[in-house]
Amino acid sequence: MAEPSIQVVADGAAVAAAAAERIIQLSDAAITSRKIFSIALSGGNTPRALFELLSSPPYTRRTNWKAWEIYFSDERCVGPDDEQSNFRMARQTLLDRVPVDPQKIHRMVGEIDPQQAAKQYGQLLKEKFGDGGMDVILLGMGDDGHTASLFPGSAALNETQHRCVANFVPKLNTWRITMTAPFINRAAEVMVLVEGAAKAARVAEVLHGPRDPQRLPIQLIEPNPGRMLWIMDTAAAGMDKLD
Ligand code: 6PG
Repeated sequence: MAEPSIQVVADGAAVAAAAAERIIQLSDAAITSRKIFSIALSGGNTPRALFELLSSPPYTRRTNWKAWEIYFSDERCVGPDDEQSNFRMARQTLLDRVPVDPQKIHRMVGEIDPQQAAKQYGQLLKEKFGDGGMDVILLGMGDDGHTASLFPGSAALNETQHRCVANFVPKLNTWRITMTAPFINRAAEVMVLVEGAAKAARVAEVLHGPRDPQRLPIQLIEPNPGRMLWIMDTAAAGMDKLD
């Protein structure tokens, strides 16, 4: 298992730009060799700028969008038009604005029973990837160390069999649907985008502190044989501005 790569850039706009460049590079390689590029999108606020960048020129012309196969790393238990929906955010900032094939957009169905939705999504992932994994999984990190909807102390952290599960999150008193760490770890590349000084202490603890994934779930993310790339701004890295 390789050490994660860490790219520190000036600010949020630079995080989006670095991530967009990397995604285009990886999509080119995947499309050239296999004619298909699989990516799981994340929710939260951080990827918004990345999605907006990818759906603006010149990025709109820099990839063959028809070859993209799009998934989600997690979803809230709401319908696709709800403000909380990760699918809705991705649609508004990216998917409605680029010529992706609607048949290749695979949302988690947040409006049905979460166990059922997770089972369905897990079956889809099994059908599509077998024992393998995706080209890219995008993730964020909450200031409590959660990633996707793998929250501290939640049952999904102990999951070893399934690719996708329903996970009850006590601190939010709600269910989420989430890819599991074992499935995420099969990806060729996991990209974690983090911004802001509020996350600096947690980033330092996750990367340099003792291993304690029940408390810091993102420590479960250790792609093998794939790579892990953190892209963060100087604030999240706990550094002064680069200028
Ligand atoms: C979600 C996520 C979640 C997110 C982190 C960071 O559905 O909320 O996928 O894991 O990535 O909570 O969120 P921010 O980018 O908003 O800080």
